[in-house]
Amino acid sequence: MQKLEVFGISKLRGQIKISGSKNASLPILAATLLSSKKIYLKNLPKVKDIETMISLLKSLGSKIKLRKKNLIINNSKQSKNFASYNLVKTMRAGILVLGPLLAKFGNAKVSLPGGCAIGSRPVDIHLKALSKLGVKYKIIQGYVHANAPKGLIGSKIRFSKISVGATENLIIAASFAKGITILKNCAIEPEIKDLVNFLIKSGCKIKWITKRSIKIEGVSQINQITYPIMFDRIEAGTYLIAAAITEGNLKIKNIIPKVIQTEINILRKIGAKVFTKKNEIKIIGNKKIKSINIKTAPYPGFPTDLQAQIMVLLCKANKKSSIKENIFENRFMHVAELNRMGAQISINGNEAIVEGNINFASAELMATDLRASVSLILAALTTKGKSIINRIYHLDRGYENIEKKLKMVGANIRRIN
Ligand code: UD1
Repeated sequence: MQKLEVFGISKLRGQIKISGSKNASLPILAATLLSSKKIYLKNLPKVKDIETMISLLKSLGSKIKLRKKNLIINNSKQSKNFASYNLVKTMRAGILVLGPLLAKFGNAKVSLPGGCAIGSRPVDIHLKALSKLGVKYKIIQGYVHANAPKGLIGSKIRFSKISVGATENLIIAASFAKGITILKNCAIEPEIKDLVNFLIKSGCKIKWITKRSIKIEGVSQINQITYPIMFDRIEAGTYLIAAAITEGNLKIKNIIPKVIQTEINILRKIGAKVFTKKNEIKIIGNKKIKSINIKTAPYPGFPTDLQAQIMVLLCKANKKSSIKENIFENRFMHVAELNRMGAQISINGNEAIVEGNINFASAELMATDLRASVSLILAALTTKGKSIINRIYHLDRGYENIEKKLKMVGANIRRIN
């Protein structure tokens, strides 16, 4: 099994180009199932989750060619409506094929995604909303068996809780339903805006009517298009935090700074100097890091996907900080490993109390989930010795060429078998 070796102390300097967004690519790839025309997608990140989604689409009959980071998808002969456990178990986003399969075939059998280290992550909100479009379903031996006897029929749906995945599944399904669907209390993450832009460009009739409500008029065909995926805002946020932790000086390129305004404001509050241009951010980390209290929230709040990384930064702050995790109940798996490196973090319910002025010590570590893994790298960059990070397959699910990108800006990091 591969591991990462990280030798501190590195002050990161130089520039990093941000890849395409994993979390925008996944629903857009699922939405291509609606099409019988060719779809060209550009700027896909080369990460494991995208490979898994491509395998899932191929298992459903999609013909897919990959040219560098561009994908040509041809679904004209796509014929299967069964998504197996093997392909859905490692990646919760597999459930996103349920909406488009029901829209296309009127029935589908899709494995429930497995449990997950960061929380129970049920799909009840997806299923409840789909049933309002006329879907009947049963859960038998870990599979959702769903069918829409009269086809999908537009409806008014208010999500009981803001869910990124459920909003995406329903936007895709309603795009092919008969009549008009109104979705209320939607997630408004930038990746959802990217999915909506993709669908509108393909000929779907979707309109934001209030901040969290969407009106969708079903269509029966979508057009051939070429679409570039947006940048990965979590990757961008991770490298911005890396610069702040290491007193670095980094240019983060290929991004749109206003999409991550919340993160920029927080980095300025803790003392980093942040300068924005149209498609780039320059960040200079400060020796003194100020403590701050943070809570994760749906966009435009602070993202749960950056909670582990900001926690490492707050360990270096001048005083105690607190972080409330409001999205996933168990998303503190990184805390035990960070404490092994010398952090003093205590958990009380969904709140972490983070003591400041910590000098991390190098250690052999275990990655537990995607974002937890990267937080261990960030901590390791500030230590004097060698750290070894095991189980980095979690990291490869979502960070493209992470050790290459970090090496280019001065980190001493390598992958070993
Ligand atoms: C997506 C992101 C993930 C991010 C999360 C929150 C992708 C592929 N993944 O995950 O990186 O951390 O948004 O920003 O885009 N919930 C239910 N029932 C449901 C659905 C969700 O109870 O049917 C709960 C979840 O357990 C969680 C909360 O709602 O507590 C939010 O989850 P959701 O927004 O759906 O996250 P994902 O779409 O899984």
